[in-house]
Amino acid sequence: MIKYLKNSSIKHKTVLLRVDVNVPIDKKTRKVADDFRIQQVLPTIRLLHNNGNKVILCGHLGRPDGQVNEAFGLKAVAERIADLLELKFIETDHKVPNYSIPHFIFYKGDISEDKHIEQLQAIPSKDIVLLENLRFYSGEEENSVAFAKRLASLADVYVNDSFGVDHRKAASVSAITKYIPSYAGLLLEREIKSLEVVLNKSKTPFVLMMGGIKISDKVATLKHLGEKADKILLGGGIASLFCLAKGMEIGISKVEREASDTAWQLEKNFKGKIMLPLDVVVADKNLDKDSIRVTDPHSVGKQEQIVDVGPKTILAFAKELKVAKTIVWNGPLGLFEVKPFDTSTMALARVIGGVSTRKAFGVVGGGETVDAVRLAGQIEHIDHVSTGGGAMLEFLAGKKLPGIEALK
Ligand code: 3PG
Ligand code: MG
Repeated sequence: MIKYLKNSSIKHKTVLLRVDVNVPIDKKTRKVADDFRIQQVLPTIRLLHNNGNKVILCGHLGRPDGQVNEAFGLKAVAERIADLLELKFIETDHKVPNYSIPHFIFYKGDISEDKHIEQLQAIPSKDIVLLENLRFYSGEEENSVAFAKRLASLADVYVNDSFGVDHRKAASVSAITKYIPSYAGLLLEREIKSLEVVLNKSKTPFVLMMGGIKISDKVATLKHLGEKADKILLGGGIASLFCLAKGMEIGISKVEREASDTAWQLEKNFKGKIMLPLDVVVADKNLDKDSIRVTDPHSVGKQEQIVDVGPKTILAFAKELKVAKTIVWNGPLGLFEVKPFDTSTMALARVIGGVSTRKAFGVVGGGETVDAVRLAGQIEHIDHVSTGGGAMLEFLAGKKLPGIEALK
């Protein structure tokens, strides 16, 4: 059984809170470029802090592979959290003074040294702390017992609110729970409960919409949810790959060509459920304005690439989404970062936002998809916008996630 933070009364303790703050950082400004994941974990931070707990946050950024590497430092994340919590920010690896008001402390000291554990323990409980990138330590991704114990020694209680990384068997989400009382945070609880609705309590019609390029990341999810779904709407590189598998010309479209057999198999398995684009938007390799045209998917030129689904497809997909009772969407349907190839992705994000909450239970996830949903102004309207990319896909593929299993 998972113990949920919401049902517990953790007060006046030291709490180690694992968060997924693996967010994009702007290369020029070195500031957080998208704080969706950070925003989603604020309620847990606030709850713990308001209950008189000393909160020590920990997380990772990128893949520094067990080496200290400034480029993957969490400073930008720390500054953003401090900003959002309206706390004064300091960055240090020294002893922290007892300030008269609460501070947000980005504590950079190396926790494999006892001196730093002692200094962390001495920080007043009114302050909120963030440790430096856990992946600077090789023990993190090795799921090392020693590193897990080290982390556990920092606190009385551990809270996992890092759904996005719970598909990784890492010390801070897996091994740690053996050494300290462990709970699922508010965000993790919402993720688990929302995604379980899709897996176990979905109402029909169930519409699955998928796009993006990397089908290899999504096959297991497509197979598992495909069984439950009544309709599978495909766009983006995935749809182009299905077209290729059917022997159609897709020109220079970006697809995972080596996975075309997989697409062929899926197409056979889910015959009658899969809807491929009825029309597509194509352009030349430079996306030149004059080269853009809408065409039948059977008439793509050798020098053209498919960059979006066309207007007929938008209408046909919208029709399915409007009668759905359960919707899952992962992966943009076109090259939505470049206008006007965002047309279908924006339009269908709005359709999903429109039917969510009232008519259908809508779940959306994946970094790019969440981006698209935000651009379309629909984050607030969709029942559940997941903070997980790979983690959401694995959960929805029916797989067990190490970080969640460790809490049981
Ligand atoms: C993510 O952003 O996918 C998670 O934080 C996990 O990161 P990873 O893919 O580098 O393991
Ligand atoms: Mg990932």
